[in-house]
Amino acid sequence: MHPLLTRALLALALVLGGGWLGARLGAPLGQAPAAAVGGCVLGLLVALLIDALHAARLLRWLRGEQREAAPTAPLLWGELGYRIERGLHQREQALRREEQRLWQFLRAIEASPNGVVLLDARDQIEWCNGVAADQLGLDPQRDRQQRLGNLVRAPALAAWLRDAQASAEPLLMPAPGGEGRQLSLLLRPYGQGQRLLLTQDITARERLHAMQRDFVANVSHEIRTPLTVLAGFVETLATMPLAEPERARVLELMTQQAQRMQALVADLLTLAALEGSPRPPVDAWVDARELLQALLDDAQALSKGRHRLTLELALECQLAGSREELLSAVGNLVHNAVRYTPAQGHIALRLRGREDGGVELEVVDDGPGIAREHLPRLAERFYRVDSSRSRASGGTGLGLSIVKHVAQRHGGELQVHSELGVGTRMRIVLPAARVRA
Ligand SMILES: Nc1ncnc2c1ncn2[C@@H]1O[C@H](COP(=O)(O)OP(=O)(O)OP(=O)(O)O)[C@@H](O)[C@H]1O
Ligand SMILES: [Mg+2]
Repeated sequence: MHPLLTRALLALALVLGGGWLGARLGAPLGQAPAAAVGGCVLGLLVALLIDALHAARLLRWLRGEQREAAPTAPLLWGELGYRIERGLHQREQALRREEQRLWQFLRAIEASPNGVVLLDARDQIEWCNGVAADQLGLDPQRDRQQRLGNLVRAPALAAWLRDAQASAEPLLMPAPGGEGRQLSLLLRPYGQGQRLLLTQDITARERLHAMQRDFVANVSHEIRTPLTVLAGFVETLATMPLAEPERARVLELMTQQAQRMQALVADLLTLAALEGSPRPPVDAWVDARELLQALLDDAQALSKGRHRLTLELALECQLAGSREELLSAVGNLVHNAVRYTPAQGHIALRLRGREDGGVELEVVDDGPGIAREHLPRLAERFYRVDSSRSRASGGTGLGLSIVKHVAQRHGGELQVHSELGVGTRMRIVLPAARVRA
């Protein structure tokens, strides 16, 4: 039965019951009709009082925070309380689900490697993730509802945000915190006048582009010089009648230039091969003694008796890696020592163990040494201390960058110690994992 009907029947029963009781009590006094009416009114009042009491309890519960269950009551009031409670509960659950989804959504944006800023129609920050805060120097909590243009003081940014046409294109700007970082900003409209700002740190990418540009410029420059010289000699040969000794001299100079270009191309190919190939194996073993002996023979051939060469092996061991790469790396150090150390100088090849189980492959000379200011840049591509001297002796400035690369590929490093007027000590350190007795 419908609760409202039950409720009406109950009220009716109370009124009729009151009337019947009134008639019974009024009969002995001869006042039955009046007492019956009085009884009905009393019954009605009781019915209303019961309703008022239940309504008051329900209202008190509704005005509170509904932490406890709805007040229990029979029939209509009980069902009313139960249905209100269930409705509230369902609404709360839906709200919690939505909150959870929003939270997960924000967490996903928070995990993005790019910065994300939500701007309202007045360019005030509605929300930003940690990456954007870091890149733009913002505080995700404190700076909410602040205008982005007021917080990031960059005229280019303000103009870009204002101009709808300009902001359709990305904006490149230095990061506000300085430190030489470069940012790329992208703006996309959404919702009702809101905008999504995406930021990306492009410092590494820009640096790579700059390196590539420098590299191409350097290679072109290095090739152009010997090529110009060669072209000059070819013209001389073609146009001028030369005596035999002169012709021989020109041909010798031409050979030198051609060799320089060959050396450059060979170094470039080595670098390209190093960059494009997988790391050297950890289970291919190279005998250290045999390796250094081959390098010593090589050095002797190169020195042609001008230097005193020694080999010092403090231990017998095998090295894991690429024989070809190690030969090329230590070979570069040996070539440098022979090339830059004046005649009668002493050059030593050494192999020593380290406390941590690794080894050091060292080439030491007592040549002119290198000034301190050059040392940090020595392994950069094309870097030469004295380009005229190095060029005269055929260097391209790629040698040490190859050595550093090989050392790193073997899990080790290149260490350079040098003092002007005393000599140079170049060392490849290899980790214990690449050494076995
Ligand atoms: N043992 C050394 N003594 C003095 N200077 C050295 C020595 N080794 C290297 N240098 C200096 O460091 C510079 C860089 O050496 P690197 O081997 O990278 O280039 P390079 O010898 O000029 O050319 P490449 O090795 O490519 O033919 C050289 O130009 C030279 O000035
Ligand atoms: Mg060299």
